[in-house]
Amino acid sequence: MSAEHGKGYNVNLRRKDLLGLDGVSREEITAILDTALMMRQVVRSANKKTSHLQGKSIVTLFYENSTRTRMSFELASKYMSAAAANISASASSVAKGETLIDTGVTLDQMGTDVIIIRHPMSGAPSLLARHVKASVINAGDGMNEHPTQALLDMLTMREHLGSLEGIKVAICGDVMHSRVARSNIYGLTSMGASVVLCAPPTLIPVQIERLGCTVAPTIEDACEGADVVMGLRIQRERQQKGLFPSVAEYCDNWEITPERVALAKKHALVMHPGPMNRGVEIASSAADGPQSVITQQVESGVAVRMALLYMLTRREG
Ligand code: CP
Repeated sequence: MSAEHGKGYNVNLRRKDLLGLDGVSREEITAILDTALMMRQVVRSANKKTSHLQGKSIVTLFYENSTRTRMSFELASKYMSAAAANISASASSVAKGETLIDTGVTLDQMGTDVIIIRHPMSGAPSLLARHVKASVINAGDGMNEHPTQALLDMLTMREHLGSLEGIKVAICGDVMHSRVARSNIYGLTSMGASVVLCAPPTLIPVQIERLGCTVAPTIEDACEGADVVMGLRIQRERQQKGLFPSVAEYCDNWEITPERVALAKKHALVMHPGPMNRGVEIASSAADGPQSVITQQVESGVAVRMALLYMLTRREG
């Protein structure tokens, strides 16, 4: 067991909410990943039923579309015997103009223990957390953070590479609008990894290096010697805003292809948070190739979310 592997189940999270990975310690991340490793045994077992969340009530409150995040939180809750419910903004009183705080207070009064929120506005989970007794988990807020995605990414990397300390992670794509990139930068640098970003300059935030990462001038430079090559979704609407000239030109210069992955280390992993635009930010031959762990990321997602729900609901005080 390396120093990066802690005690897992025995470690409490000393926080009410998980709003981002900015400021989350290496010890806390290690505890979450260790607990997730144990939860993954449940995900892989024939009888996916534990009593970890018996008597607890979990609500997913999604103001944006989601397949992976919402479904994995719902399955995680059900595997651990919680009462789980979902609210989608379009089918709730939000559509009648109810505020986020009023919605949260209403859920509190119903005895909700954990609210999992995805919202287009950066900071919405933090606002909600200040007004409810329930624990709040950020499932993605605007361009800010998507902490559970970064945790599942780190769990997948740690499984294959043994440790996050000293690894080089190349993140390629729309960094400017990516909450996944931001959470991975915070989490990975906290764990001792180095993060290299690459994208057209218009898709790289000014002074992003202040977060502890570097920016490579080309995707070839970013991939060179990397342990992980991670793609980010290119949102086609960005092209309409003139942030890159054409999809064809983007692919020529920035698409993750097997040839570019070959510049990375021999054991390098190909990752993507999904949903993917095949043939834009990542070629199918790379996404489905022998180095891809994209489907394993999805499995890690259920395990990480089980771990977080368990750890947040057993906190003291
Ligand atoms: N990676 C991710 O957040 O996917 P969803 O939008 O499907 O939840």
